[in-house]
Amino acid sequence: MKNNHIITIDGPSASGKGSLAKALAKELSFILLDSGLLYRAYSYCFEQSHNHSAAKSLFLNLRINSIDHEMHVFENNTDITSILRHENIAKSASQLSSLKETRDNLISFQRDLASDNGLVADGRDMGSVVFPNANLKFFLDAAPEVRAKRRHLELQKRGQEVNIHDLINDIVERDKKDRTRELSPLIKTEDSILLDSTNLDQESILDEALQHIKERNIL
Ligand code: DC
Repeated sequence: MKNNHIITIDGPSASGKGSLAKALAKELSFILLDSGLLYRAYSYCFEQSHNHSAAKSLFLNLRINSIDHEMHVFENNTDITSILRHENIAKSASQLSSLKETRDNLISFQRDLASDNGLVADGRDMGSVVFPNANLKFFLDAAPEVRAKRRHLELQKRGQEVNIHDLINDIVERDKKDRTRELSPLIKTEDSILLDSTNLDQESILDEALQHIKERNIL
């Protein structure tokens, strides 16, 4: 059965968007768009070229695959996803994402991922700019300290040791940049549903999201 529904999940970093998006994509058998990973991949390409048109060509030569409901990025058959998850790439992605050239180079690529298989799109501007007509929009938030702790655990699991206080400062700084930039700032659109994960675990947030999805007959 065709299902071209689009569900967007926007919110600040480490709010749990990634986990919720992955769980929803799995539950609904939808394609997952992890737009942050695309911004990270673009930054990786930009670091090699320092030029937007060359970065775009390099980016288009990467291969994007879905593995176990997660997006993975391959360069010449090597999976570079874990490299893209490093904090230094997150920082350069945050800086580059405020530039028009970067956003213009990524927007149609993101829209093209919408298909007859349904899409869960995770990012900062999914509901506001990339998919303004999405069937359902969520805005996921949590207190900065809680997000920093989660990011700390996540990085530890990947073997990256980062000071928690530095992480809180980085998260607050990056949020400010993402929320106040001129182009596609991180905002909660009026038609989106706020989910606050400060005191809720992943399962409870997933249940809440599924409840809204059922109410809208998206299943
Ligand atoms: O979600 P993430 O941490 O992987 O995102 C990396 C950076 O990319 C983040 O600092 C902001 C930027 N980004 C963006 O500007 N718009 C999006 N839709 C997704 C990410």
